Amino acid sequence: MQTDLFSFSDSMEEIEKEIRECKKCPLHKTRKHAVPGEGGHRRRVMFVGEAPGRREDELGRPFVGAAGKFLDELLSSIGLTREDVYITNIVKCRPPGNRDPTDMEIKLCSPFLDRQINLLNPRIICPLGRFSSKYILEKFGFQMESITKSQGKIYKTDKILILPMYHPAAALYHQYLKEELRKSFNILKALMEEEDL
Ligand code: URA
Repeated sequence: MQTDLFSFSDSMEEIEKEIRECKKCPLHKTRKHAVPGEGGHRRRVMFVGEAPGRREDELGRPFVGAAGKFLDELLSSIGLTREDVYITNIVKCRPPGNRDPTDMEIKLCSPFLDRQINLLNPRIICPLGRFSSKYILEKFGFQMESITKSQGKIYKTDKILILPMYHPAAALYHQYLKEELRKSFNILKALMEEEDL
């Protein structure tokens, strides 16, 4: 009941504003721009990356650097554009030097992602990389053994389908991961057809 009331009164504009003004963790001191996320606000497919990189921090938009170019290519390979999906990150500000996000940063920032998920009510979530896969799987009651074992598998609850994938940035340096990501996108395509999305 609480959750329903909460999501009815929330809006993406409000969440984005709060993210841009957030000072809950030290990342706000080094960021140029917080990166709330973007895409069709009513879309049923959501991608969740790790945290903004340098280019994303400069522009305030998710996945606009080299990894983003590859993500665009993967989306286009199954006939999608950014407008067909919603793209965000588990941590909304850039960790300096692109280091991994800390447990504390994830803990403090993930309530924004939770609200985005409540609001968008996605049918499919594709977490990208090990940090967001662990967070999303555990949030919905699954255990993640490792990204290698979880990626490309579909985890189902009544409400939601989770399809963890390798992170596109990792795939830039490893041809094998590129192929695995292409396979995951084909699984996503089939899933969207099955779900009539
Ligand atoms: N890597 C991410 O995880 N997110 C971005 O927005 C860009 C690169």
